Amino acid sequence: MARLKIGVLISGRGSNLQALIDAAADPGYPAEIVLVLSDRPEAAGLERAARAGIAHQAIPHPSREAFAAAANAALRQSGAELVALAGYMRILDSDFVAAWRDRLINIHPSLLPAFPGLHPQRQALAAGVRFSGCTVHFVRAEVDTGPIIAQAVVPVRADDDEERLSARILTVEHRLYPMAVRLFAEGRLEVREDRVVVAGATAPGASLLNPSEALASRGG
Ligand code: GAR
Repeated sequence: MARLKIGVLISGRGSNLQALIDAAADPGYPAEIVLVLSDRPEAAGLERAARAGIAHQAIPHPSREAFAAAANAALRQSGAELVALAGYMRILDSDFVAAWRDRLINIHPSLLPAFPGLHPQRQALAAGVRFSGCTVHFVRAEVDTGPIIAQAVVPVRADDDEERLSARILTVEHRLYPMAVRLFAEGRLEVREDRVVVAGATAPGASLLNPSEALASRGG
């Protein structure tokens, strides 16, 4: 089985990168990471790539255009067929986004289109929403926009702070991203009129209430 070659762009910790590395460690997983690029040489994710024996490189970011040109050249050279942003925290050059259209994906820790940009978990807490979560989507030029591939819902708890909510969402990100990459690698995603159709997809039948209905029946 030829595995889909993916390039991963990071800026920091790289825990989502690690989730992809772990998934790809299974020879039955339909994708493999061929290159990890970072705009920051000190990104801990580069060490994760090194430990896994994956080619990795820090690319200077004197300007958006210069970074994009160098990243694009390295990705083409590596044979990458899909580029996954995994905590890449800068805005990408629009020509790069266009060149990789529908082969460039991102994970974001909110239920987009709610709370794009920085500190989405803090934004969710400030808005008082009862559910947040994470989204994997194809990338378009506007920050955190593009056709949605998959989402996961995480309840917001009364005692959550930014750190606790972020940690619970992150755990689910680590399940969602490898799943979304698998769907891409299996050729099951089709972008139609800027929405993604997933071949053979089923949605969960159950609804979830927060606070739970049990609260109301307890009486006051
Ligand atoms: C993750 O929560 C990811 O969803 C988020 O940054 C974190 C990176 O963590 N990305 C964005 O907010 C992109 N807009 P990681 O480096 O441990 O994967």
